[in-house]
Amino acid sequence: MNKRFHVTTFGCQMNEHDSERMKGMLESIGYAEVAEQADADLILFNTCSIREKADSRFVAHLGHASAEKKRRPEVLIGGGGCWAQSVKEEVFSQFPFVDVAFGPGQVHKLAEFLTSESLSAQGYFEFEGFAGDLPAKRAREVQAWVQISVGCNMNCSYCIVPSTRGREVSRPFEALVAECERLAADGVREITLLGQNVNAYGRDLRVGGRPVAFSELLRAVDAIEGIERVRYTSPHPKDMREDVIRAHAELPSLCEHIHLPLQAGSSRILKAMRRTYTRDRFLDRVALIREHVPDCAITTDIIVGFPGETEADFVETLEVCEEVGFDGAFTFLFSPRRGTTAAELTEGLVPHEEKVERMQRLVEVVQRRGHERAQRFVGRALEVLVEGPSRTDPTRLRGRSRHGKTVNFTGLAAPGELVEVEILSATSQTLRGEESLVARALA
Ligand code: SAH
Ligand code: SF4
Ligand code: F3S
Repeated sequence: MNKRFHVTTFGCQMNEHDSERMKGMLESIGYAEVAEQADADLILFNTCSIREKADSRFVAHLGHASAEKKRRPEVLIGGGGCWAQSVKEEVFSQFPFVDVAFGPGQVHKLAEFLTSESLSAQGYFEFEGFAGDLPAKRAREVQAWVQISVGCNMNCSYCIVPSTRGREVSRPFEALVAECERLAADGVREITLLGQNVNAYGRDLRVGGRPVAFSELLRAVDAIEGIERVRYTSPHPKDMREDVIRAHAELPSLCEHIHLPLQAGSSRILKAMRRTYTRDRFLDRVALIREHVPDCAITTDIIVGFPGETEADFVETLEVCEEVGFDGAFTFLFSPRRGTTAAELTEGLVPHEEKVERMQRLVEVVQRRGHERAQRFVGRALEVLVEGPSRTDPTRLRGRSRHGKTVNFTGLAAPGELVEVEILSATSQTLRGEESLVARALA
């Protein structure tokens, strides 16, 4: 009988996609996926370490795995991803029941380990650039992630990612276009290009003797027959040039949504974060987006309570949120991460209660502005890519608009279809509507 595996994934879309590649690779060497850890011969965790909460959640999961190993000593336990990379060999002393640990760049080594003679504790933590084209087991039929680069050359003072994913390396242009073509041939309609700083893509490449621009990659993917939606995450405000913004206006498949992480509204704090842009430069990018693509949804990430953040600095974050009117925002309490310079700061630390209080004020502004922004969709017909039944009401359908909004609606559509939905109401998070049956009849 086939060996069986189970994977639990934590963290960002990059990790979700790495898990797809892990699964694809495991199936290629004869393993089969199972839904329960209790039925698996190989229990894997793809870990994240971006904030302290991510660590503690995962350590609780490891406790269960350890119990499983006691019950069935032949089970193999593996930890991959950013947490594993950030603690490296310590994994084995802290968690002696772990058999194999590997960093995000070493997914392919898992196969080597499993097919080797000796299955004693092994760790793989090199950075090797892009680790070849692994087969991926796609979680979603018509949507796919495509990783365009590994690593990050930025040095944001709070962030653990450069140390867990290494230096930035772009994947060759032709290989990427070929992968997107294969996905299109396989029925994929929406592609999300992934990287830590996607708009720095291609600077390290040479095609015909010169570097490649991210906007050229967008153009090439847009041109592929069958790809109807292209998204990317995350771009860096510093590298958000006019060619990329114009591409949103010019390329039919490039969605009207840009996730542009602000982090903080005060230039002083941005400097301490080493974000390499100021409040004005960020606002200028937003103005340029609105000039070329007036209807574009803009979402963001914000950190509250960075060391040294005063009330006045925080008010600047609120002001930027009021002024921009983000369509949505992920908001985080600052969490000191091992090995980062921000974790060493000792002055102006913001007490936890104050962080929480600021967070509440921020969330109020983010939700109110998000709600206001969403009202522009009411009364319009939006193109929705159907993903499945609504999470709250299984008699309704759920999908996403080009703006990245979740749409819950009544209709006849099947998952994977692109349909027109009349929007009847909107909250800050979701839109509600009904499928346009006239459009269906005419289609
Ligand atoms: N490369 C992406 C971000 C990846 S991490 C980018 O630059 O946009 C996702 C988000 O987590 C970041 O945008 C930031 O808002 C948040 N984050 C990262 N490190 C953090 C920390 N130490 N404490 C709190 N939030 C953090
Ligand atoms: Fe982290 Fe900054 Fe790189 Fe994003 S750009 S991954 S926040 S170092
Ligand atoms: Fe992603 Fe977490 Fe690593 S957010 S890049 S999996 S630290």
